[in-house]
Amino acid sequence: MKINLVSPIRTNRVILASLAIFAMCAAHGECDVPLAEGWRFAKDASRNADWSDEALDDSQWERVRVPHDWAIGGPFLKDEPSGMTGRLPWKGVGWYRLAFDISPADAGQCVFLDFDGAMAAPEVYVNGRKAGGWDYGYASFRVDATPFVRAGRNTLAVRLSTLHMAARWYPGAGLYRRVMLRVRDRAHFARNGIFVTAPEVGRDRALVKVAWETEGAGKDASVAVRIVREGSTVAEATEKAVRGVAFLAVEKPDLWDVENPALYDAEVLLADGTHVSRETVRFGIREIAFPVADDPNDRAANGFHLNGRRVQLKGVNLHSDLGLLGMAFNRSAARRQLRIMKEMGANALRTSHNPPSPELLDLCDEMGILVWDECFDKWNAYGGRRDDQSLEEYVARNLVAFVRRDRNHPSVIVWSIGNEIWEWDPDHPIRKPDNPLFDRGPWGQTKERNAFFCEQVRMLDATRPVGIGNSPHMNEQRVLDLGIFEPLDLTGWNYFRSYVPAKKKYPHKPIIFSESASAVSSVGFYCENPLGGMKDFPRGAGVAAQVDSRDFQSTLDTVDEVFDWMERDAYCCGEFVWTGIDYLGEPYPYDKEARSSYFGIVDLTGVPKDRYWLYRSHWRKDVHTLHVAPDSWTFPGREGQNTPVVVYTDGDTAELFLNGRSLGRRTKGERIALPPAMTNDHFKAFCRYRLMWLEIPYEPGELKAVAYREGRTIGEKTLRTAGAVAALRLTAEPLSGKDEDELIWVHAEAYDAAGVRVPCATNAVAFAIEGSGRILGAGNGDACEYVPFSNTTGHRLFGGRAMAVIRREKGGGMKVRSWIESVESGQAPIRASVEP
Ligand code: GAL
Repeated sequence: MKINLVSPIRTNRVILASLAIFAMCAAHGECDVPLAEGWRFAKDASRNADWSDEALDDSQWERVRVPHDWAIGGPFLKDEPSGMTGRLPWKGVGWYRLAFDISPADAGQCVFLDFDGAMAAPEVYVNGRKAGGWDYGYASFRVDATPFVRAGRNTLAVRLSTLHMAARWYPGAGLYRRVMLRVRDRAHFARNGIFVTAPEVGRDRALVKVAWETEGAGKDASVAVRIVREGSTVAEATEKAVRGVAFLAVEKPDLWDVENPALYDAEVLLADGTHVSRETVRFGIREIAFPVADDPNDRAANGFHLNGRRVQLKGVNLHSDLGLLGMAFNRSAARRQLRIMKEMGANALRTSHNPPSPELLDLCDEMGILVWDECFDKWNAYGGRRDDQSLEEYVARNLVAFVRRDRNHPSVIVWSIGNEIWEWDPDHPIRKPDNPLFDRGPWGQTKERNAFFCEQVRMLDATRPVGIGNSPHMNEQRVLDLGIFEPLDLTGWNYFRSYVPAKKKYPHKPIIFSESASAVSSVGFYCENPLGGMKDFPRGAGVAAQVDSRDFQSTLDTVDEVFDWMERDAYCCGEFVWTGIDYLGEPYPYDKEARSSYFGIVDLTGVPKDRYWLYRSHWRKDVHTLHVAPDSWTFPGREGQNTPVVVYTDGDTAELFLNGRSLGRRTKGERIALPPAMTNDHFKAFCRYRLMWLEIPYEPGELKAVAYREGRTIGEKTLRTAGAVAALRLTAEPLSGKDEDELIWVHAEAYDAAGVRVPCATNAVAFAIEGSGRILGAGNGDACEYVPFSNTTGHRLFGGRAMAVIRREKGGGMKVRSWIESVESGQAPIRASVEP
């Protein structure tokens, strides 16, 4: 069968991609075509138009590339009462249309449309007829277009509506993930119908089990399986069964691990007379376990074990948005996020609180990142369920689709059926008027529901534990005694060391700290007095809606107290910090003023906040860390005022010097006097993980930190006071070369005449491209900035920085230009450029 994409904007890239696909199709009659280019998009203001008709003239519709998020371009809806969902126009109805040609070389082929996710409630029409759809916007689904396609021109139309959805963060809108057209022989493997596991794992030998389901095959069909590692076949088997299993021995297997994420391919071929169909499944050989010893303090015998040894989970929660790109998935952008997390020392990710893009899991497999794979936030409208849908049916059906999709990923170690779902409480008002998020109602957890959902998961995959992330309030004895958690294999607990009562109640169930910290900060922001206590979030006129970056403030736990718990509570498998990266929406504590979160260890543009180095100093022992917060020594007008300094290092001691004078040494574990607001338990562990100088009258000049480990100097860091802005520096992040549609991140930073970064610069900055590229988004780490990301001018420097994300449209040269308007009126703009 020949596929031809009809693209109104036929770029060379599309034609080349199509030619490559012809070659593939010609070889064995089957192919996978990404439907990325050539789409048309329109929003339906009336909300009830029918634009599925083949004959509809869509030539005036916007041309878009899929993945596409219709709301990320803004404008920001500043008047929304809260910034919980990012103040972006994601609510609405939108249509996407695409024309494509099919010319059958072999009649009777099957044509499938695979959607990795579509926000939300997708209805898919092929040639004007409804061909399928799904209800949950985060789920992947397949539409069998076979009965609807014909030789020649075909029209695909997709209607999406986010109207019934509820969200506690920015969910995006549109065809925000990959869409694939797959052609298969009439006898083929069922979608997600191949399941590869390794029932026996040893260093010398592993047993790999490949199970399959087929569709359309006759009873004489046979299946051949090859296990391939780096191009060489390491095991083979053939079975005559349309639904069967093969066991293959792999000698000296290269085990998948966080440090060595070795991957294998299972190439599976179905032969039915003259019909041949094939699939390739990537997998890893590894052994996971969650042992629980009688002695909860025995570190080696408890926790999460990978290939026979304990691996402490140093995890982060991540929502699915990609900052300035919104929800529109891009592999290089996701790779960048994971790389930044991994470089900090994170080895695990919780996909809070929904199925991620399947491509994200491919990346986790490749990069050695362990995944707590989560299907739902709540089982109500926050989980995409309409009130008229049966809870049991909806949750079970989506869980089945989710587990079938993700079960071959070696990175996935836990199935989570939800997050912070309260117990079923028929007497409670469905929503407390004063807190619409209060989720106690008839959609809650019960023992029966948990048992039923666990069973759905285990029927498809019994190799991983099934758990749930619980709100801290669920640890009340009254709730524990309801027996709700009995059917689960493990329990996850959010905040306040709330897993302690659960451990008492269920001493033999593994425990994960599924959300920790919820610390908040704004990148490069340093207020006049950060020592007002953990929840010192001043509000009101003239007070910036920002949070100091020296990491004294948190909404729930402090970073340091969680480090202490994780060292003490050996039975806990580890933590998942809320959150690794800032996301759109949920801007506590400034939800009235802001539009994106403060929780991230890294800001919305991917720039590490000071906290990043606190985590790195504790999580990574293989590299030295020395970081000084504030990360600059430029506070004009604050001369003589107290300016506390914190040092994050893997060393045990550091000495600080201000203009050559020693401000003294600090050593980890030695107590220092803390101000009254910081004498509570949250701050008890601070002296163990960070070094603090809390009384330093600010004077401009040079602040130097020298760090030591066991008496040896391990690093030196000097900050100098910056003068006026004199230069703009553009830096392009290095390309990985690993992704086809690799984006480019360019940072703009202000410097003074002596080459010192000017962190307090707030100039408006503009970006432009010379050559063949497009700026997909521009912005900074300010959670309160309302300039749309789609604007390339008008963003201000925040913490002295801004950035642009760029797509190179064709090969060849491209220059990124940037300039800031005059610092003093009458001066010429300051310009810079970079050729990535
Ligand atoms: C948790 C919740 C997360 C996020 C976080 C903020 O209770 O599970 O989704 O809202 O609080 O602190």
